[in-house]
Formats: sequence, structure tokens, C-alpha cells
Amino acid sequence: MDKEVKAWDKTAMNYFSEVVSPFAEGVDNPLFWYLDHKITEDKKKMSVMDVGCGIGNFLPILSKKFSKVVGFDFSSKMADISKDKVKHLKNVTVLVRDARELSEFYNQFEVVVTVNSILLPNIKDVEKMFKEAYNVLKQGGVLLGVFPAMESFLYQALLVQEKYLDNGETQEEALKKAQAAIDEAPCDFTAGLVKYKDSIQKNYYLFELKHRLWKAGFGNITVRKVYYPWEVYEDEELLAFRGRKKLWDWFVYAEK
Ligand SMILES: C[S@@+](CC[C@H](N)C(=O)[O-])C[C@H]1O[C@@H](n2cnc3c(N)ncnc32)[C@H](O)[C@@H]1O
Repeated sequence: MDKEVKAWDKTAMNYFSEVVSPFAEGVDNPLFWYLDHKITEDKKKMSVMDVGCGIGNFLPILSKKFSKVVGFDFSSKMADISKDKVKHLKNVTVLVRDARELSEFYNQFEVVVTVNSILLPNIKDVEKMFKEAYNVLKQGGVLLGVFPAMESFLYQALLVQEKYLDNGETQEEALKKAQAAIDEAPCDFTAGLVKYKDSIQKNYYLFELKHRLWKAGFGNITVRKVYYPWEVYEDEELLAFRGRKKLWDWFVYAEK
């Protein structure tokens, strides 16, 4: 079993205390607006796939809007929680599958959603997951996705740096504190890799995300921000930035 699968199995038990979720209260997430206003044809005639559905946060919402919902996760612990959550919903199926190999589903879905699930640290795996998300869509189908942003860490560093500069500290001191503030997380700025507890996860620069979508075959790409309220963070230094522009993930709308 992949060590990533094991790590997600572990997270499944304490999902909301371990993951800052775009489904949490107070998050400004364009996903819902795009779902309602950009996909205007009758969703009751459409099938949707939730790639890496986790504990099934999105499945009940999708069930109400679409004719058929298939959610899957490579962590069986996550999938079990999802299955339990949707057991009363007749149009939802939850499976244990790996997003790197989805040939059994090619060309079957009008819509694919993937919310902070394309995170494996190996770039070839990441490329496979983008390509498979493309492959499972019918021609003209739509991808709605959320992806963690590398720039959000750099913005966080800027806020910390500015705070100490404004307090009269030297640039050297301020930069040292800014680096320390984000030191725990980004571990490779070239590959866009971030350390969370024991695992390494992929995060995305804006130009990179657009490039990866384009390389997988997607067109008509729109990217927006998912803004997180400062209150979701436990770190005192971050909470002190309440009132400033917020940290974010990327939201993506793209077409096959
Ligand atoms: C941060 S969670 C997000 C879960 C869900 N989309 C949500 O937003 O509530 C990431 C999920 O992606 C799953 N995942 C990561 N890589 C995967 C892969 N290659 N195939 C299937 N699931 C994967 C993990 O097991 C985990 O449940």
C-alpha cells in the first residue's frame, strides 16, 4: 500500500481537525456559484464524478443536483465514511479507486469535481491524475476543482515580513521571521511541495496550474480564489492578520 494511502487512512478519523476544508463554514468558495451558474443545462440529466471524495463532504450536495454521482477515494477508510454518509442516497455510488488509473470510466461524465485531492508528491502521478480527470469527461464536459496555492505561503511570508519591518526591525531580521513563519510548510519551491505533518503534498503556482490543465488537454480555463477566514487557523501570528486580505486555494473551471 502507498504510504500516502496510509496517511489519508489516518487522517480520515479526525478529518476536520486535520484539514482546512473549503467546505468549512465561512469559506468564500466560488465552486458553488460555478456549479449553479456556469453549468446551466439540466443537471438532472448529468453524471458527476467526485475524484478523491474523502469523507464525502460534497456528495450530498451533488446528489441533489445531478442524476448520477460517483465518488471515489484510494483510502478505504475515507471511502467507508463516505459510504455511510450517503447510504440513504439512491443516486450516489462510492468506490475505492486510484485517480491515477480510471480507464473503466473514460468518456462517461458531464462533470468532474476534485477538491484538494490532486496532491500526490510525485509529479508524474500529478500529471496522470490531471489526464485521467480529462479522460473520464465526455467531450464538452466540465472540470470544477480546488487546488492548494503555493503563492498563499509567499503572501503569508510577505505579511509577516511587513509586520516586522513596520515595527522598525531590519530587513534581515524581518525576512528571517517571515521565512521562519512558513518554514514548516513549503519544502520545495521548485516542485511546489509542502510538508503537512508526516506527508509531503503537491501545491500549485497559478501559472503551473494553468499549464498542467492545458497539458492534460483542458481549454476555456478560468481560475479564481477560494478565500479562507483567518479564524480557521490556530496559529496566533496568523490570527493577528484578521482584517487583511485572506489566504487562499485556487478554484478552477475548465472544459474538455
Ligand atoms: C484533502 S482530502 C479532500 C477530500 C474531499 N475532496 C473534500 O474536499 O472533502 C484529499 C483526498 O484525496 C484522496 N486522494 C489523494 N490522492 C488520491 C488518488 N490518487 N486517488 C484517489 N484518492 C486520492 C485522499 O485519500 C483524501 O481523501
